[in-house]
Amino acid sequence: MTTTEHGLLHSFFDHSVPRCYPHVCQALMSHTKVGEVTLELGCGGKQYGAFVQGRYFGLDLQADLYGGAGPEVIGDATALPLADESVDTVFVVAALLDIEEWQKVLAEGARVLRGGGRFFVFDYKGSVARRLGSPNQFTASMLVRGMESSSLVGRHHTEFLPVHFIGPLRSPWVRRLAAPFIHRMSNWLVISGAKV
Ligand SMILES: C[S@@+](CC[C@H](N)C(=O)[O-])C[C@H]1O[C@@H](n2cnc3c(N)ncnc32)[C@H](O)[C@@H]1O
Repeated sequence: MTTTEHGLLHSFFDHSVPRCYPHVCQALMSHTKVGEVTLELGCGGKQYGAFVQGRYFGLDLQADLYGGAGPEVIGDATALPLADESVDTVFVVAALLDIEEWQKVLAEGARVLRGGGRFFVFDYKGSVARRLGSPNQFTASMLVRGMESSSLVGRHHTEFLPVHFIGPLRSPWVRRLAAPFIHRMSNWLVISGAKV
């Protein structure tokens, strides 16, 4: 086992720090750019900031739930205290499923996005949300339709894998072959809305 693999296994079992899910990191590294601005809604411990290129800032309802520096903006994702067309990328991880007025979050994200920007939602599938007792039990088509109701072009992403690239998964061929199975077994949905 390599040092990296050992580190990944250790972080999998260590819950004292917020979890960094690989599909979120992959999407942020490939879609954010130097010179642009990225906003995370419901940012919690802000563990994904390190994977964003350019400027990153987080918004959350509360500051003291997680350790660390806390969100740059205290606010409600359903009524963002931000100007229209002021950010290039918006994303939210494992938070939308618990926000009853989730369509308002999509509408607010769409409002603050600049033209050409993208809003990513990384959230649990409905089956997981049901087990957690969350109010929103999403399907991919429900979130894509939600994006479209906010005048964004919705897309279901299957290119980002919720697994670490260890062992045989280091090979892009193996990843391509395994992707449909990984997505079927996974707890996650990755949806985006592009502002054209
Ligand atoms: C399950 S935690 C996820 C935190 C982080 N995104 C992560 O992946 O570790 C959900 C977060 O969403 C925040 N949240 C819930 N409702 C919100 C709202 N209406 N506006 C902003 N943040 C909200 C909570 O305070 C909490 O920090």
